[in-house]
Amino acid sequence: GWSMENVLDEEIKVIKSTVGTEDHVICALSGGVDSTVAATLVHKAIGDRLHCIFVDNGLLRYKERERVMETFERDLHLPVTCVDATDQFLSELKGVVDPEKKRKIIGKEFISIFDAFANDLEKKLGRKPSYLVQGTLYPDVIESCPPPGSGRTHSHTIKSHHNVGGLPKDMKLKLIEPLKLLFKDEVRQLGRILDVPQGFLKRHPFPGPGLAVRVLGDVTTGNALDVLRQVDEIFIQSIKDAGLYDEIWQAFAVFLPVRSVGVQGDQRTHSHVVALRAVTSQDGMTADWYYFEHKFLDDVSRKICNSVRGVNRVVQDITSKPPSTIEWE
Ligand code: XMP
Repeated sequence: GWSMENVLDEEIKVIKSTVGTEDHVICALSGGVDSTVAATLVHKAIGDRLHCIFVDNGLLRYKERERVMETFERDLHLPVTCVDATDQFLSELKGVVDPEKKRKIIGKEFISIFDAFANDLEKKLGRKPSYLVQGTLYPDVIESCPPPGSGRTHSHTIKSHHNVGGLPKDMKLKLIEPLKLLFKDEVRQLGRILDVPQGFLKRHPFPGPGLAVRVLGDVTTGNALDVLRQVDEIFIQSIKDAGLYDEIWQAFAVFLPVRSVGVQGDQRTHSHVVALRAVTSQDGMTADWYYFEHKFLDDVSRKICNSVRGVNRVVQDITSKPPSTIEWE
């Protein structure tokens, strides 16, 4: 029958016979649910012939690197190389304001780091890795026709495929996509069987270009990224404390490149404005802005202005998708 335990056993068999006993496999972990579950599954099948990389591009949330590395290493025992590429990314992004350009640069930098990782591995192993794991889901793969024999119909909304910015085309790696027949809720079930911590499986989606699409304009301006990380952390923590995290599809803060006048203590300030965004959604294609209670918003706004230097005004985004997108860039 079709149970997640069977799916898991079947996938492990397929991966073992595909990869054989000699070949090596690489995987880029984003910190998200899909790549983590895919890597954990492959690791179960072939052990430490899997080699994962996690890139800190300097555009991650507060303590994100430490948090995901702890899950990868302590909870999941995944073999992960953590690369701190903050300087590389931020120096390429310096002065860049156009949202599409920002995304392109991030994609390109990511590829160059991944390339270097594969080359290093080749030197170390004395052979090229042959396979690449990707956490592609069913809705990412299917345009109009489900694969024959998959038992799927195509009544679900199709989501356009975002990955971490594309991967090197000349690397000639064969793909392993163990989740490609699954929907998100099934990936979570699979993750549970694989002992991926429940809190991790419930994480909100986070875009590949990271905080670059949440600091409007030049991400290297002043300490925008740091300010945003602090604001975001207060907002998310407050949402968790209020027990609202699981009913929200995505919540985050946005750093606006404008200043407004305020008064703090008996000082006139000329500081930054941050926006809070929270939406509910089924698949990210459409979304409704989330109604918080006024008391909650009041508390969050006070906390932010009292504890984050450089912010004297908090606004809330009250647009749905459409007409807005979920992210601001
Ligand atoms: P938008 O802003 O287009 O976002 O309404 C829809 C969903 O996609 C996420 N998103 C991305 N995810 N790479 C990603 O991995 C990207 O470049 C990207 N852009 C948007 C967004 O966070 C939301 O969940």
